[in-house]
Amino acid sequence: MIAQRDYSRFTNSELESVVVVRENDHYRKILSPFPYERSIPVSSQNQPNLRIPGPVPLPDDVLEIAGSQMINHRGPKYADMLDRMSANLKTVFMTKNDVYFITSSGTGAMEAAVVNTISPGDKILSIIIGAFGERFAEIAEAYGGDVTRISFDLGQAADLDKVRETLKGMSGVKAVVFTHNESSTGVSNPLEDLCRVIHEESDALILVDAVSSAGGVPIAVDAWGIDVVATASQKSWVSPPGISMVTFSKKAWEAHARSITPKYYFDIQQYEDYVKIGQPPFTPCLPTMFTLEVALQSMVDEGIENVFARHHEIAQHTRDGAKALGLDLLPDPRFASNTVTAIRLPEGVDGKAFLAQVNKNYNVIFGGGQKSLVGKIFRIGHMGWVEKAHIDEALKAAEETLKSMTS
Ligand SMILES: Cc1ncc(COP(=O)(O)O)c(C=O)c1O
Repeated sequence: MIAQRDYSRFTNSELESVVVVRENDHYRKILSPFPYERSIPVSSQNQPNLRIPGPVPLPDDVLEIAGSQMINHRGPKYADMLDRMSANLKTVFMTKNDVYFITSSGTGAMEAAVVNTISPGDKILSIIIGAFGERFAEIAEAYGGDVTRISFDLGQAADLDKVRETLKGMSGVKAVVFTHNESSTGVSNPLEDLCRVIHEESDALILVDAVSSAGGVPIAVDAWGIDVVATASQKSWVSPPGISMVTFSKKAWEAHARSITPKYYFDIQQYEDYVKIGQPPFTPCLPTMFTLEVALQSMVDEGIENVFARHHEIAQHTRDGAKALGLDLLPDPRFASNTVTAIRLPEGVDGKAFLAQVNKNYNVIFGGGQKSLVGKIFRIGHMGWVEKAHIDEALKAAEETLKSMTS
């Protein structure tokens, strides 16, 4: 809900500073249409090619902004910035729902989704396709949710028929919680289809962990009827860690009114009350707010469909490149993620040694496997600002390291 800001309570000098900040170099960049020249070098002596699924490497213009001077988070500059950011975030999420910026990592946003909408004893269906799906279930359980898990093999997306069947066999489900893009396996759930099935079979709220998909992959919050989406700044949003973002539907607000779960820091009502006066309820991670403002504006300037197309293209380039090396991908190809690619390590290769050698000899950093996939896969992050040169360098490092380890 973006109220028309009333500036009458600010002094003249405070208001002038709104103009001054816009004249700073980076704000000039925000206001000038993207794309302006931007690049991140491939690995160099003092900078690795960081190819984990977030935090993502940042281009110089963003790094410069992250180092900007602090501002008064209870002054007009902040109010002005929050207005623009909220409007742009709604554009990216294709929604008229409320959006909020929270100083936390992505897990905080997942916790916010839960504490604001469920009450102890509520029936929750948790769809799990990997480690982060399990985390969402654990959060719901930690707050007293009566959680039913439905799990799928690692590398697979949720099977729609199975989800439908499960919902048919349950009654009074209050919320369905799941991961959109499972970073641990490089699989993207078919979000639109899943939402359709859930709506057809229940009246449940839909709470989505989109931490590693939002900003790189389309999420049509209103058209697909998603109640809460949670994401975090260090992923496709070309920003450092520190800020999570949530969308909140009318139905989620109705659930909030009924929810008796204890909450304070993540009580979304606090954020809503403060948005009305252009402020955060608590001291925000300002450097990340600054970079997120640029990220959001540049995404809107570039055109969100172009941002999504760019992610699709670099993901395809990564998958093709890995396959050209004779490597197998973990995910079912129908559901391969556009933000992270999970690649199986050839039989007999020591996964830990592989990651260490790639790092030491090529200055490239991959993500490893998580939980039962430790030592079995490696993951290449390609969300945010990624150029083909980054992927080519990373794949070359993988190829040469595997050659040296298997010969
Ligand atoms: C899909 C997904 N969900 C949740 C998280 C947790 O986010 P954070 O580490 O910011 O709390 C991550 C982080 O990698 C993720 O990829």
